[in-house]
Amino acid sequence: MGYTPDFDMDDQPAAREHTGTAFGEILRRRVSRRGVLKGSALLGLQASWPGFARAPGASGRPSFRELAHGLDETLHVAEGYSCQVLLRWGDPLFPDAPAFDPANQNPDAQGRQFGYNNDFVEWLPLPRSGDSSVSGLLVVNHEFASSSMMHPGAPRARDLARDQVDTEMQALGLSVVEVRRQGGTWQAQRASAYNRRITPHTVMRFSGPAQGVRRVRTSFSPQGIQTLGTFGNCAGSRTPWGTVLTAEENVQSYFTGEAKSTEEQRGYERFGMLGTRTARSAWGRFHERWDLDRHPRAGLHAGWVVEIDPYDPAFMPVKRTALGRCKHEGCGIVVNRDGRVAVYMGDDQRFEYIYRFVSREPYRPGDPAHNLSLLDDGELSVAEFTEHGTLVWHPLVWGFAPHTYANGFASQADVVIDMRRAADLVGATPMDRPEEIKVDPLTGHVFAVLTNNTRRVREEVDPANPRPANRHGHILELVPPERDHSAREYRWEPFVLAGNPDDPQDHARYHAGVSPNGWFSNPDNCTFDRTGRLWIATDGFNDEGIADGIWVCASTGPDRALPKHFLRAPVGAEICSPCFTPDHRTMFCSVQHPGEGSGYDEPSTRWPDFDEHLPPRPSVIAVMHDQGGEIGS
Ligand code: FEO
Ligand code: CA
Ligand code: CA
Repeated sequence: MGYTPDFDMDDQPAAREHTGTAFGEILRRRVSRRGVLKGSALLGLQASWPGFARAPGASGRPSFRELAHGLDETLHVAEGYSCQVLLRWGDPLFPDAPAFDPANQNPDAQGRQFGYNNDFVEWLPLPRSGDSSVSGLLVVNHEFASSSMMHPGAPRARDLARDQVDTEMQALGLSVVEVRRQGGTWQAQRASAYNRRITPHTVMRFSGPAQGVRRVRTSFSPQGIQTLGTFGNCAGSRTPWGTVLTAEENVQSYFTGEAKSTEEQRGYERFGMLGTRTARSAWGRFHERWDLDRHPRAGLHAGWVVEIDPYDPAFMPVKRTALGRCKHEGCGIVVNRDGRVAVYMGDDQRFEYIYRFVSREPYRPGDPAHNLSLLDDGELSVAEFTEHGTLVWHPLVWGFAPHTYANGFASQADVVIDMRRAADLVGATPMDRPEEIKVDPLTGHVFAVLTNNTRRVREEVDPANPRPANRHGHILELVPPERDHSAREYRWEPFVLAGNPDDPQDHARYHAGVSPNGWFSNPDNCTFDRTGRLWIATDGFNDEGIADGIWVCASTGPDRALPKHFLRAPVGAEICSPCFTPDHRTMFCSVQHPGEGSGYDEPSTRWPDFDEHLPPRPSVIAVMHDQGGEIGS
């Protein structure tokens, strides 16, 4: 997401104390052995790229001519490709839904329309058993509302009237939309029985260790089994069994109240939910469910990974508590070599951790009832990176020290509810804002994107977070031994240190051939295509005066870490997802918060409509090759 001033990371708890090694020394130890550090001449480092090139195969070389860096009002894509705007904020999703009328938007209309600030996008083929690339469902997260861009007069979130708050609530959650490609054009199917809006009011249930425990019982959930709604949905993933996981991320700022003198106060402090009485806490003024003074446990209902079945519009979404509670950026899922599933999760806040869940049971193709229980039972763990290139996964399992009564954990429910505190106790490595984590289909290596951390000071650098005041972010490559995603120890390497390779201050690191347009800043989302190319979407480059967008590079082989600029966002926007149809002839991605930083009445862009009566509208686009070829080939 983009961090608008009223939703800034200033609400983060102060950095905890870490012991660190001097920055230059760390880089010498971990990088000089392998790295071309283009632009790092100051460090006098030697070149011996590429790190894990001994991995089999080589990912495909992107053939397009790359875009130039820039920043303007519109969207750009590499020559030979076109972008179609497919789903815009306010587009009706049902036959009875009203047309978009931004000057008179209201909760009822918004609840039947495409939501705001679309983020994660996933393709699910129709029919379910097939692999269609022309008929399918798009599942889309709507992460947050940009009050000043949504309402005439550009109000601040803290000044919203009740009707505006309710409209924003209805603009969050998810949309499920049937889409079809006819000829060279995509169309949303407004009459589809699959279409669905899921919002902060949708009835859901808990499963896993925290289901039904006393701590999650509230007057809205007397048994602690039912829960209501999802919001702050950032990234996600499609499971091997055809459902979707959606990650609740920045849930903290919607709550008001302090839960003072309750048993939850300390946990909320660690979560970053208190002391954050920023603009978005307007929800609690009008809806007591978001008032922690009246309902001190209500905040425990947020911060989970939620599973939905987009093929079943009546499916009750499930909060999978075994995956822990934090500010989940996303959840990269992979079937392990023994059939169990592993889920990698970043907790997106400065100095937070990377987590892994491994199911107890294996995935069984064709057994949906069994597969829908996989994420309720397994082992949660957290990553510690060492300077020796080793990563250790520390279990977060109740009953084994330190997760016992002695430290305030009475059950696994306590461990998952207070996952950050459980991780603090085992020496997890505080990271530079872990965002999306995905597994390379060619090598089985795990790529973890860290977006930035300007608060890391020199004394706090560590091998996996080697730059103080890390403005540009980096990407790590984690290597499970023999593709065993349940192993206790992995190896790891830096993959990219983002920033300008021609600016020695940045200490950036890419393939030596990186072009003046190939470098990027603030990597956020990523995905692999079937040839093993890594597609990277950024969030924050705009702040450097260069538009956010998409870059793509090989993950292995001679072009490893050689990014090329593919797509450029309009001013103020970040690009999220992307995802591909199975034939790789369409890429869907989100254009989130266009015009951010300006205001409704005088926006810095009116993308995508460029109509003087319409504000900029977050939208999902379909990117296609003009000759119908595969994207990037
Ligand atoms: Fe929703 Fe961490 O970006
Ligand atoms: Ca981000
Ligand atoms: Ca993100």
